[in-house]
Parts: sequence; structure tokens; C-alpha cells
Amino acid sequence: MSSPSLATAVDAPRPDAADGITVAAPPEAAPEVWPLTARTVDGRIHVGGVALDELAEACGTALYVVDEADFRHRARAWRASGADQVHYASKAFLCAEMVRWVDSEGLHLDVCSGGELELAVDTGFDAARIVFHGNNKSVAELEAAVSHGVGVVVVDCLEEIDRLGRAAAAAGRVQDVYVRITPGVTAETHAYMATGGDDVKFGFPVREGHAERAVLAVAGQPALRLAGVHCHIGSQVTATDGLTLAAERVAAFVAELTDRHGIAVDEIDLGGGAGIPYLPGQPRLEPGAFVAALRAGLDRVLPAGSVRLAVEPGRSMIGTAGVTLYRVGAVKDGLRRRFVSVDGGMSDALRPSLYLARYTAWPAVGGAAGDAVHSVVVGRHCESGDVVVPDIALPSSLASGDLLAVPATGAYHHVMASNYNAQPRPAVVAVRDGRARLMVRRETPADLRIREAHGEEVALGGV
Ligand code: LLP
Repeated sequence: MSSPSLATAVDAPRPDAADGITVAAPPEAAPEVWPLTARTVDGRIHVGGVALDELAEACGTALYVVDEADFRHRARAWRASGADQVHYASKAFLCAEMVRWVDSEGLHLDVCSGGELELAVDTGFDAARIVFHGNNKSVAELEAAVSHGVGVVVVDCLEEIDRLGRAAAAAGRVQDVYVRITPGVTAETHAYMATGGDDVKFGFPVREGHAERAVLAVAGQPALRLAGVHCHIGSQVTATDGLTLAAERVAAFVAELTDRHGIAVDEIDLGGGAGIPYLPGQPRLEPGAFVAALRAGLDRVLPAGSVRLAVEPGRSMIGTAGVTLYRVGAVKDGLRRRFVSVDGGMSDALRPSLYLARYTAWPAVGGAAGDAVHSVVVGRHCESGDVVVPDIALPSSLASGDLLAVPATGAYHHVMASNYNAQPRPAVVAVRDGRARLMVRRETPADLRIREAHGEEVALGGV
């Protein structure tokens, strides 16, 4: 066997080399990817009336900046979307202050772990307005859901129906549940985010009677009440065909339950997944269009208005409210591409490494100067896949010490951040009407050391 030549090794496809070069775009050139209040004033980007360089000075970098007005605007658009109930999918972004924002907008909350549930309840969110998801909830989580009085638990497997039935009975309660079903519709999105096909870990396939048996199992539990049926076909979806087809199949399933078993379902939760633009020119699936696509599917089968429709948007409510602010450190010129290193990376922005997701970027100050140079924005972590923005045409003037702003980072960034390379996680700061308020403080090296146990003896019970 011949060994690979050096040339082959060097030219092998790289995960950070995207197809084509992204246009670097300031707020005025691509408002779709920036927060609603983003403006360039005297060469400085402002969000929520606050200059990003001033925020960097006050809070340090890397920094997540959240435009409160953007979130509230989108929350209201969802409430006006035509859905009967809107649950904010907290997995997209959550912290105590966010729980308060969601509450103040009159939204319900979708949580998918005991941790999210406790944070919401501890912050004062009414548990009756919470829907609890998860494909492998622990017994302790199910018991916590019952004892907090969670509005709906979305059951995802037969063991859980049994466990939840027992937990509710033990607590002397009747727990409302949705049964999560999969309609055999694979959403047009990244494979990791498609959840409605027959070969996924979530829920019960309608195919071969799995979903029907799950509903009957719920009906057999005196301490559970079937409040509805749930389906979520995926995330970052911009084409509506799959949504309509899924809704139609869910409606057909519901109609069949009535025909065959006399079971009436009056609520259908069709999940979240409305896509947002990450790059200039990309589309957003607007709340009204998302809901209309779902209603169209339901209406093909069920009498119009016969079921309540709930939705669970996450990304589309908070994604473009967020901007990540980095300080540029090393700049390597004279190579095939200019490598611009920033003071964060895959620890605060995992999506480019995990899904090869692409973003645009723009200097927070003085962005207009200089010709465009083929650049790649990289992080400070120890691997070549640590890329923040692959292949982007950034101004030649960009230099060490400058601030770089990456928009559309409000969803699935802070919540997916890690401490890789013992990197403390960034702060999250909210901006509105010229004022900045801290939502999550920056992690410190002391925070990271707090879990060190120094080889403390573990007490073994003997099994
Ligand atoms: N409902 C359920 C049951 C879900 O699983 C999800 C997302 C949502 C609602 C909200 O979907 P959204 O409206 O945010 O698209 N980490 C990935 C996204 C994973 C989505 C997980 N489930 C990313 O960074 O793109």
C-alpha cells in the first residue's frame, strides 16, 4: 500500500473550508441577520442603543449581547401568529432573566430537562404553563414534574407512561400528558435536527401502530389524562411542505383514534423549528406562515377549528436577537487565507464545528475601511475545526485589538457553551433603550475549579 503523499494530506477537504465565500455584512447591508435595533452610528455598531465597543469595555469579551426589543417583537409576532398557545422552547436560550421575559410576554414554556424545569420554577414561572419534554426523563424528573404541578408532560416511551402514571398516582394527582408521535416526515434540514422520520429516537411512530398503542397505554393509566398529541419534525426548517404534511398525518392519526377507540383529542402541539437567516439573503419562516402551513394540514382532515393548535418556537424567537462580540488577537496574513483569531471559539460557538453552520461577521468599529480579504475567523482552541466563521470576505483593515461582531447567535450558543480547554464561559448582557443589564455573569477560573475533588474517597455501598 502506498503512503498518502504530502500534497494529498495538505489538500484534503477541511471542515472549515465552506463552499464559497460569505459576504461580510454590517447591519445596514443585511438587517435580516442582525438584531432589530442594530445600527451603525459614526462607524460603531450599536444594539439596543448601546455601542458594542462600550459593552466590550464594560463586560469584556467574548460576550453574548441580547437585544431585548428584538426578542419581545418576535414573541409578540408568535402570539399573533394564529396559534392557540405558544410555548417558548427554552432549550434555545435560557437563564433566569429570560424566564422573566417569557413570562412577561404571556408565553408558555417548553423545558426538556429537570434543570430547565427547576430554573423556571425557581424563577417564579407558573408550572401549570410548562410543557415538559425529553426522550429519557428520569424517575426523579417525572416526580418533580408532578410535584411542581407541570401543566403537561410529553410522554416519549412506554416505560415513561408507566413511571409517570405511578408517580402521579402516588402524589394523588391526575397528570395531563401529550403523546409524542412521529409521522414519518423527514424535515428538510441538517440531519441532526430532523426528528419526524420513522428512524429517530423521539416519540412513537404512527407506523405499525406504535403511537396508537401509546395512547391506549395512557388511557389505561387512571392517574394520566390524554391532553393532546405532540409532533415536532425538526429545527431550522424554512420549507413549509413538510410541516403541512406532518400536520395532515397527525390529524389523520387523531381522527383514527376517535373512529377506532372513541378517544377525542382536542389539542395538537406541532412543535417548533421555524428557520431563521444566518447569512445575508437567507429567508426567515415567519410565525404566521409557519402556523398557516400547520393549519392547512390539519384542515385537510379535521373540521376547521376543532382542535387547539400549540407551537413551540425557540430559535425563531431569540436567534437573531443575539450577537457575539469577540476581540481579535492574532492575525496571520500571507497564507492562502487570512487567519483571524478571536478570544473565543468552539467553546462559545459550537454550531460551526458541530453542524458546519455558517455565519457572517463585521467589525464592531470602523468596518467600512479597506478592501475585502478572504479570511477565516478561528477560535483559540487546540484544533483546526475550531472555526467561528469559515471563508468570509472581511475588510483588510481588520487588525489585532479590533472587535468583531458575529450576528444571529442568540439561539443554541450560550446553552451549548462548554469549558473546553478550561475556557470560562462568556457573560450574557441584555441591551435596551441605551442601557445594558447583565443576564448571566462571566465565568471565572475560580468557578471552574469549584468542582475539583482532589481524589476524595468515594463511599461504596457494595452491591
Ligand atoms: N420542540 C421540540 C420538541 C424540540 O425538540 C425543539 C428543538 C423545539 C421545539 C424548538 O426548535 P426551534 O424552534 O428552536 O428550532 N442545537 C441545534 C438545534 C436543536 C433543536 C432541538 N430541538 C442547533 O444548534 O441548531
